[in-house]
Amino acid sequence: MKFSTSHILAVAVAALIASLTTSCSEPEAQARQAAASSDTMRMEVLRRAALANGAARAADLIIPTQPARVEVGRLIFESPKMSLNGAISCRDCHLDEFGSTDGLPNAVGVGGEGKGLERLDSNGRILPRNVLPFWGRGGKGFDTFFWDGRVRKGPDGIVSQFGVKAPSTDPLVVAAHLPSVELREMVEDTPQIRDAYVAEDVSDANSIQRALAQRFADDETIGPRLLQTYGKAKSDVTFSEIADALSQFIRHEFRMRPTAFERFVFDGGPITDAQLAGGILFYGRGRCASCHTGPYFTDFAFHSVAFPQAGFGKNGFGIDEGRYNATLDPRDRFLFRTPPLHNVTRTAPYSHSGSVTSLDKAIIAHFDPLRLVDTKPMTVRERSDLYVRLGTASRETLPSALTDSEVRQLVAFLTMLEFEAVSR
Ligand code: HEC
Ligand code: HEC
Repeated sequence: MKFSTSHILAVAVAALIASLTTSCSEPEAQARQAAASSDTMRMEVLRRAALANGAARAADLIIPTQPARVEVGRLIFESPKMSLNGAISCRDCHLDEFGSTDGLPNAVGVGGEGKGLERLDSNGRILPRNVLPFWGRGGKGFDTFFWDGRVRKGPDGIVSQFGVKAPSTDPLVVAAHLPSVELREMVEDTPQIRDAYVAEDVSDANSIQRALAQRFADDETIGPRLLQTYGKAKSDVTFSEIADALSQFIRHEFRMRPTAFERFVFDGGPITDAQLAGGILFYGRGRCASCHTGPYFTDFAFHSVAFPQAGFGKNGFGIDEGRYNATLDPRDRFLFRTPPLHNVTRTAPYSHSGSVTSLDKAIIAHFDPLRLVDTKPMTVRERSDLYVRLGTASRETLPSALTDSEVRQLVAFLTMLEFEAVSR
């Protein structure tokens, strides 16, 4: 009598199950089996939720770049000639060791020296906001920039302080125009400079940028490569080439790479119990995906979470009115762009003013913000501002109370969104 392979396998499996069930009691084995199949179901639930919320493979988000332009952009990004006073580069605040941010609550701008904490002891101007990282900026569909979305691609083109004269139809290129002319960031804020150039005024910004472009065209190392790559004569170089090179560099260097979550969703990759529980919470009861959705884990919309406010604030006296600064629409007060979450484990501290130091606190701020602040030493003004922000946050669909262990599970889930920025 002949046995088919499947028959042999079936007998072997039956024997295995028999040996398992004899080694432990019947109910225990049944419970184990039930747990395994419910895990499989929960994994399937998580995969489906991720796909329904726009999870995408990194490879499908990448916009190709030109290597020669990327290399010119890298040189410009790292050059202090990018700033009017010749002392600060883009790299000073966007560092590899801090996941393309600076590790500080509020960035230290012009006049600052050193890296990370050293900068706090230097004489630099403190900026009102936490540095944003670059992961996925420049990928397909990433079209809203800065905490307040002051550069944004809408149905009728780019909305920014450039008005109808946006220097490009690519929002990253438009965004790359701003840092070099922001007061305190890369331009000293003195009465003389204020008189001569006011960042918000586009024509003045243009004159700074013409000077910077000429500087790079004249630079011994960067100049020749810039001219050759863009096929320009020295006198024809404009800031368009500089901004294009910067954005080619950012688009390439910080492009999306596959994560453990991508491998789990698309390739059946592994997941731990805590990550699975965190993922189910993220898309389910935690309501995280009502804002942190889509391929970049942001809806590119503006919401209010009553994070504590640290530092002087964009609007002064410890206040940052967020999106309102870009639209002047009172309904936008205290709203901020939902932050993307890739590599968020590497970019502490968190929130628009860097007021919380760890991911668990960043999550707690969404449902129990008062746990993170001591209202006693607050001034009347700070306190009333906090109540307004609690009011705007209360109108959002935020998670209801989560336990400490649920918060830990969410943090475990967020580690699945890490990727290594490897090969150039
Ligand atoms: C003094 C520190 C500092 C320097 C120098 C600096 N940045 Fe930034 N960068 C920031 C801060 C702070 C933010 C967030 C500001 C905000 O959203 O209001 C930011 C945000 C950005 C963003 C938006 C990212 C996003 O998620 O929307 C881009 C793009 C950017 N910077 C590019 C650059 C470039 C290019 C340079 C050099 C020309 C540069 N930065 C120099 C501090 C700095
Ligand atoms: C109503 C929309 C909304 C919901 C729901 C939401 N978030 Fe957020 N989240 C935001 C906004 C907006 C910010 C930034 C607010 C600020 O800086 O003032 C933020 C900030 C964060 C940050 C800090 C990121 C950084 O780079 O500073 C993390 C982490 C985070 N959210 C995770 C979560 C998790 C986990 C959940 C579910 C438990 C969740 N969020 C639910 C809108 C939301």
